[in-house]
Amino acid sequence: SLDLSPIRSFLSEIAPQGRSALLPALHAAQDFYGYIPEPVALEIAQALQIPAADVFGVIEFYAMFHTHPVGKVIIHVCNDPACALAGADTVFKQLSRRAEYALETGEPISVTVEQSPCLGLCDHAPALLVQNFPATSAPEITWQELTTKTGR
Ligand code: FES
Repeated sequence: SLDLSPIRSFLSEIAPQGRSALLPALHAAQDFYGYIPEPVALEIAQALQIPAADVFGVIEFYAMFHTHPVGKVIIHVCNDPACALAGADTVFKQLSRRAEYALETGEPISVTVEQSPCLGLCDHAPALLVQNFPATSAPEITWQELTTKTGR
């Protein structure tokens, strides 16, 4: 069952900040649990005295937050115009294939590849961002390691 103590102890420190603590709380929850389970979102809403609908709205708005378990490593591939023109779709498809291959071969990594709005790295188009969850037990990897491991 879900252990709420990590998020509770975090919230006890930042709750006095109210609504302005929402993003830090969501980041902490995402790091603790690898996603933001509903009871955790409700806990955050209550502690910060924010309507639950607002909390869920913010979770949905940001690509970094997830309401369901995802890979221990998430690769966000930008698909906004600058990156789309630079071939982001090809990058996304290739990475998705590699991630599937890693899963098929039983590599001890779990990777989710997602499309993302502008990452603010347009001058490096096509841009991607690798997000690891250090609080979880899965090994951390970089994109280079991923491509090397899968050999594609
Ligand atoms: Fe891709 Fe900005 S358009 S990072």
